[in-house]
Amino acid sequence: MTSVLAMVNKVKKIVSVVGARPQFIKALPVSLALKDSFKEVLIHTGQHYDKDMSQVFFDELKPLSSHYNLGVGSASHGCQTGQMLIRLEGVLLKEKPDLVLVYGDTNSTLAGALAAVKLHLLIGHVEAGLRSFDKKMPEEVNRVLVDHMADFLFCPTQASVNNLLKEGIKENVFQVGDVMYDSVLLFQKKAESSSKILKKLKLEPKEYLLCTIHRASNTDIKENLSSIIKALIESGEKTVFPVHPRTRKYLSEWGLDQLLKKAPKVRIIKPLGYLDFLQLEKNARKILTDSGGVQKEAYFFKVPCLTLRETTEWIETVEAGWNKLVGTKPETIIQAIKEFFPPKRQKNLYGDGKSSEKIKEILMKKLS
Ligand code: UD1
Ligand code: UDP
Repeated sequence: MTSVLAMVNKVKKIVSVVGARPQFIKALPVSLALKDSFKEVLIHTGQHYDKDMSQVFFDELKPLSSHYNLGVGSASHGCQTGQMLIRLEGVLLKEKPDLVLVYGDTNSTLAGALAAVKLHLLIGHVEAGLRSFDKKMPEEVNRVLVDHMADFLFCPTQASVNNLLKEGIKENVFQVGDVMYDSVLLFQKKAESSSKILKKLKLEPKEYLLCTIHRASNTDIKENLSSIIKALIESGEKTVFPVHPRTRKYLSEWGLDQLLKKAPKVRIIKPLGYLDFLQLEKNARKILTDSGGVQKEAYFFKVPCLTLRETTEWIETVEAGWNKLVGTKPETIIQAIKEFFPPKRQKNLYGDGKSSEKIKEILMKKLS
């Protein structure tokens, strides 16, 4: 009798797969929510590996910790995803989870879902249903494939639910809100009290612009990266630019690092930890970015956002008037820096900060 009860009450095991900077930030609130009801095993694929792209987040986002680091590192898409697939399969066979949880749209997300589906394991996709409708973006291919493999689809927004409906995905689609909003609510006070970044960079609130760039379409094409850098320099604005390693490589490859050396108003710095970066976002006058997560965080902090792309998955921020798609043309970017002002009011687009709890509740019901 006891053993039957023990079997019925057996704690279910969830394997979460992460690998890139934004996924550590998304996984933390979910890990916290799962803690008392599930056994979670976190696998870091090793897609990001520099200290300031990986370890800094495990140091700050306590108690997030990885049980495995697969050490895959950088390579071409096929090679990187293939290596992840091989190594993930071994761990999944060993761990025998009841569900595999994947986040967002990176190669780690695709490999996690593919490894799981081939082993007939259940898959949950956090940040499901996002679409840019641009198949040249590697992330778009990853999102579409993962959504069609997933058993439980945790959508942040109504638009993402609608996208899935249009592709015929109707079952087990849950609009839970955005887990990145959960993270911001968990960490913004700590960022406020512990980050010294404004002092360190000698910045006053609202006197500077914050810029991040890392999309392949912006970094790998010389014309596009040159055009964005030209806009930053010619705007004459004080700009802080924490540079992603991919972008650093291409700034050097395209000779733009030399141009930036002669432009003291554009401050090139290393990628920052989450707490410092939140502080810089919150106090920026405007944010220029091609990042998905940063577009949302700009909205959470009520900072106007200029998105250096032609499309966005976070379309509701544009519709709400807080985000403008400016592409890469210097005149368009400079004009928006000077003239883009959002409305005074904001709608709550991303839930109530309890998305992770909702995910846990759903999984408890579905896996019981
Ligand atoms: C990846 C994701 C992207 C996500 C971004 C978050 C894919 C296809 N892309 O892009 O969706 O928005 O992470 O930041 O999964 N590099 C280092 N050190 C590192 C990591 C990367 O030097 O720790 C350099 C390497 O030269 C590498 C390049 O950056 O080739 C690109 O890294 P990769 O992980 O392939 O893609 P990201 O551009 O980081
Ligand atoms: N971020 C950070 N330090 C930085 C730049 C970004 O901590 O120097 C955080 C940011 O707060 C957000 C996430 O990283 O939560 C966004 O990651 P990124 O832009 O690399 O990827 P994307 O969201 O586009 O996939």
